[in-house]
Amino acid sequence: PTTMVIAIDGPAASGKGTLAKRLAQHYGLPHLDTGLLYRAVALTLIDAGASLDDEDAAARAAARLIADRLADPRLRERAMGEAASRISAVPAVRTALLAWQQRFAGTAAGAVLDGRDIGTVVCPDARVKLYITATAQERARRRHRELGARGEDTTLADILADIEARDARDASRATAPLKAAADAVVLDTTDLDPDEAFSAARAVIDRAR
Ligand code: C5P
Repeated sequence: PTTMVIAIDGPAASGKGTLAKRLAQHYGLPHLDTGLLYRAVALTLIDAGASLDDEDAAARAAARLIADRLADPRLRERAMGEAASRISAVPAVRTALLAWQQRFAGTAAGAVLDGRDIGTVVCPDARVKLYITATAQERARRRHRELGARGEDTTLADILADIEARDARDASRATAPLKAAADAVVLDTTDLDPDEAFSAARAVIDRAR
């Protein structure tokens, strides 16, 4: 492939979002946080008063997703991550969002996409695939800090329970489960700060360019 697609996957709060944003800026590429798509579908259902178990409503919301929705600050709330994880197991939701993501990845000279199945399903031909991980404890600490900074009052124990439940659900679903692509470079950021993770990722990408 002549385009520079960078696929970044990993579990909740692994630091993949922050990393993807910095990489996109550094390489001058557009960035898509694909978790926002699933969160936006969940928010559409919640706003419509529909049940999160209504698979048809979820599929329709995914098919009609509009980019404007992705800027809603409510998408970042803790409850939305949970809701997104639930509707993301619906195959028709994934199919609709797959088209959306592949359009995004294919329009420019390249792109950075982060999510759960970018290297395995969305962009299997990506030039570079990174799988970002960290221990559940460390990820819970980071998410707790992040939610606290946004004024959400949570306990570390609750966040850890969330993260473990979400990991289990994302990794065990039948369609596009969370896992590292066979050709992904795994980057464990448990003992890395954001700058160190950024330079480690750059080293991998610059080797592949
Ligand atoms: O990354 P984020 O926490 O925003 O993702 C929310 C949820 O959306 C995840 O727990 C996962 O279930 C789902 N998701 C997915 N595939 C992606 C991105 C997110 O299934 N590519």
